[in-house]
Amino acid sequence: MNTFYVTTPIYYVNDVPHIGHAYTTIAADVLARYHRQLGDDVFFLTGTDEHGNPAAQAARKKGITPQEYVDGMVGKFRALAERVNATNDFFIRTTDPEHRQAVQNFIQQLYDKGDIYLKSYEGLYCAACEAFYAEKDLMDGKCPDHGTAPELIKENNYFFRLSSYQERLIEHYENHPDFIYPATRFNEARSFVMQGLEDISISRATLEWGIPIPWDKSQVVYVWVDALLNYISALAYARRENLVPRFWPADYHLMAKDILKFHAVIWPALLMAAGYELPRHLFIHGYLLMGGQKMSKTRGNVLDPFTIMDKYGVDAFRFYCFREVNFGQDGVVSMDGFESRYNTELANELGNLLSRTAAMIGKYADGRVPAPPAQTREFAEGVQKLGIGVARAMSLAELTAALEKIWQFVRSLNKYIEDSAPWKMASEESRRSELDQVLYNLAEGLRICAILLNPFIPEAAAEILRRLGLRASPEDMRMEKAEWGITEPGANVAFGDPLFPKLD
Ligand code: MSP
Repeated sequence: MNTFYVTTPIYYVNDVPHIGHAYTTIAADVLARYHRQLGDDVFFLTGTDEHGNPAAQAARKKGITPQEYVDGMVGKFRALAERVNATNDFFIRTTDPEHRQAVQNFIQQLYDKGDIYLKSYEGLYCAACEAFYAEKDLMDGKCPDHGTAPELIKENNYFFRLSSYQERLIEHYENHPDFIYPATRFNEARSFVMQGLEDISISRATLEWGIPIPWDKSQVVYVWVDALLNYISALAYARRENLVPRFWPADYHLMAKDILKFHAVIWPALLMAAGYELPRHLFIHGYLLMGGQKMSKTRGNVLDPFTIMDKYGVDAFRFYCFREVNFGQDGVVSMDGFESRYNTELANELGNLLSRTAAMIGKYADGRVPAPPAQTREFAEGVQKLGIGVARAMSLAELTAALEKIWQFVRSLNKYIEDSAPWKMASEESRRSELDQVLYNLAEGLRICAILLNPFIPEAAAEILRRLGLRASPEDMRMEKAEWGITEPGANVAFGDPLFPKLD
């Protein structure tokens, strides 16, 4: 059996969960669900990054301990994952005692091996990024991501010999052109490595809120090292058994470009140092923008996913995420854009396809899927091609491309109704078998749409199968069932409420 391990970044708890967090979580969920439909052994990980300066500062402002603060915040992120119907197999918190222990073991191993050493260091530090910046990477002396001026910090820190992994990293990039998608991000990361790497500080002396360095308790582990290790630590304690041999290396780490360098340079070097294989792929998606800027709490321009889902449902939101913005590129989201896609595509194109099909089967065939006089070669071939195209796009995590192919099929079924005009056939007894053929084709086409759409809009997909009088078990949703001609005639088709009701 194939395994498939997919992750999201672990989110900082000091932010409010917004559409950007939901986006990556849903993307990972789409891949996880798709691979389960393939019959793979899947592990899907998400969680929260709870140590570091911003959380400690926020706690201080509220007059509570950092632990109390993060305990109070984590619920919002868990709730977001649940609300978007994420089927994560585990939710890691970096304050989990097992994770803390795993981080200490990991860096002790690197220290013992000589990959970590003590050095005095001075640098420009952005507390919001938890990262040092070189002067040249600032914009007008300010952090390019947060627009705030970094502080000059001087302290004794433990350093990781990142520079000594440069050659091996370059070699890895040379040999694995599929290490990072899309290709532009691969090139960006590779040229960064080629420019030369300096050793990095992996401890902080000025912070108390973190994981103590095991051999020097006056320092804590740099929050990024702590955070990156979640991808491996979780596997060791998520269930009672050690899942590392089963699921590592990860198939996909998903994230936006803000954290590319950490994942494309530091993470692989840490893994190499400890003797682990590297993840197979990183997929770097773009930013969802509102009014032309990346959403963030600091800027206050966030689109609240909960409001949208409360009004329109989870599936509509999931669908919008990958329809509106090409996965891998930046794109603007807005309430207007959302509503227009909801009405034209979900309500009109998919919703009406189902209601018209159900209504016609009700009216012209006593509510039962009729037996087709023959199997239609053109549909069988088209669906086979569609399946291959979707599989290819999904294997590259090209979610928008996959969804677009499926949507072309939805549209072609609507056109098929218009072109064949079953209502005319129904008025001529001599055209009965033609009519049966059309009705069968529509039911069968919709069943296949439901299977292919299931990773994206799982509630609606199951509902489509039930309306067609079919079961919607995991077996019935298997990708291999997205093949023409499986539906047995006779299923009882139900005409229900609109799948996506039109709202003002
Ligand atoms: N804690 C770190 C990640 C550690 S992973 C080992 C962190 N957290 S974060 O809360 O800032 O999350 C950043 C991630 O959230 C992005 O990489 C992306 O996955 C998601 N997004 C946050 N805002 C987003 C947009 N506006 N648009 C798209 N994705 C967004 O960085």
